[in-house]
Amino acid sequence: MKTAGKIIGALMSAEGKSNPYPIYRQARELGPVTQIAPEWFLVSTYAEVREAMRSSAYLKNRYSSVDESQRAVRRSHRSIQIFDESVLLQDPPEHGRMRKVLSAAFTPRRIAALEGKIQQVTDQLLDMLAERASAGEAVDFMEDFAVRLPLTVMCDLMGVPRKDWRRFRPLAQDLNAPLEMLVDDTQLAAADAAAAELDEYFSALIELRRADPQDDLISVLLAEADSEAGQLDLRELLANLELLLVAGFETTTNLLGNALAVLFNHPEVRGGLLAGKYTYSQFIEEVLRFDAPVQHMIRSAGEPGMKLAGVPIPVGAELVMLMGSANRDPLRFPDPDIFDPARPDNQPLSFGGGAHYCIAATLARLEGVTAFSRLLARYPRIALIGTPIRADRHGLRGFRELPVVLDR
Ligand code: HEM
Repeated sequence: MKTAGKIIGALMSAEGKSNPYPIYRQARELGPVTQIAPEWFLVSTYAEVREAMRSSAYLKNRYSSVDESQRAVRRSHRSIQIFDESVLLQDPPEHGRMRKVLSAAFTPRRIAALEGKIQQVTDQLLDMLAERASAGEAVDFMEDFAVRLPLTVMCDLMGVPRKDWRRFRPLAQDLNAPLEMLVDDTQLAAADAAAAELDEYFSALIELRRADPQDDLISVLLAEADSEAGQLDLRELLANLELLLVAGFETTTNLLGNALAVLFNHPEVRGGLLAGKYTYSQFIEEVLRFDAPVQHMIRSAGEPGMKLAGVPIPVGAELVMLMGSANRDPLRFPDPDIFDPARPDNQPLSFGGGAHYCIAATLARLEGVTAFSRLLARYPRIALIGTPIRADRHGLRGFRELPVVLDR
């Protein structure tokens, strides 16, 4: 039996990043909540992850739980500061204020209006894949499709010129490093460099929109930031635009890659989809459970005297909530290691929960369903060619490369 500390080490190893699921099983065997360090706990079961995510007694902003010297360190890294100043890491009342402003972009009506655009972009990308494949070029599903679909949708929604898309994947990958459980100095330096480049990019774009407003999210949010009674200031605007860009595509990119890998590893699922045995929505929901693009989130205890699964949690202590493990908890999902789109009452925790529940879950699901229904209608025999390469991350789980042949 492993100790909790060894479990963290195992999850951070190359093997653990490639396949964390056997390690999660060991974590659950230690108990729903295990202490790793005096102020650090691992939460690995469905009921407990859900409870902590939904409880307002667990906070998101790590400024609230760290001492002044640590705060100064956090502030000295622009990459960390971007997340700290964005909606993702706010607590009430700032969280409610920011979330309300941003939510305007993700109403069901606005998302439904994007459906046609998502179909159109999907079809254009599939055309491009076909052209490249017929010219004998190798096709990387990640770079040539999974990155471009959500990135194009995000660029159009926000008002970021599509032509700049190539810059964003490496920048997002670097910027996201501080969201990992452990981050080293080299990764942090790369994250800060990416943050500086994104700051410069978005500051310039903000000035362009100020001079010439458009019908896009940047212009709407900028008008809010520039107005006297505005509910967002300019620093917050910058942080949230950068968060939206990276949260809005890398997660969805990974959903698409993880979904395709499922089809390669489970041929019966492809057959089931093509035969109409289950819907594409069921398929995407089961991918979200089986191989979640976001594997963990952090919360900290906001009040004295808190307990989770009977374990006392000191005020300020941090909880690593392993959603990837919760989604494989046999107490919630019978035969959790079996991929079964027909699973009844399938409610994975992959979009989080409570007040911070993913603001764009509907959009992400729509992109997943549209992408796979059209991809399989056109290339039902799409197959892996060569070796898939996983990204070197635990928190944001996905592939770096997924080489494919469209029609075998
Ligand atoms: C499959 C794709 C996606 C996954 C798995 C995902 C997952 C998540 C998770 C786990 C959280 C945190 C919840 C928490 O702390 O409780 C979150 C929050 C968030 N997501 Fe997503 N997300 C996805 C797509 C998107 C997209 C497409 C956008 C933007 C267009 C987006 C924007 C956000 C924002 C702004 C938040 C912060 C909400 C808040 O703190 O109130 N996400 N997402």
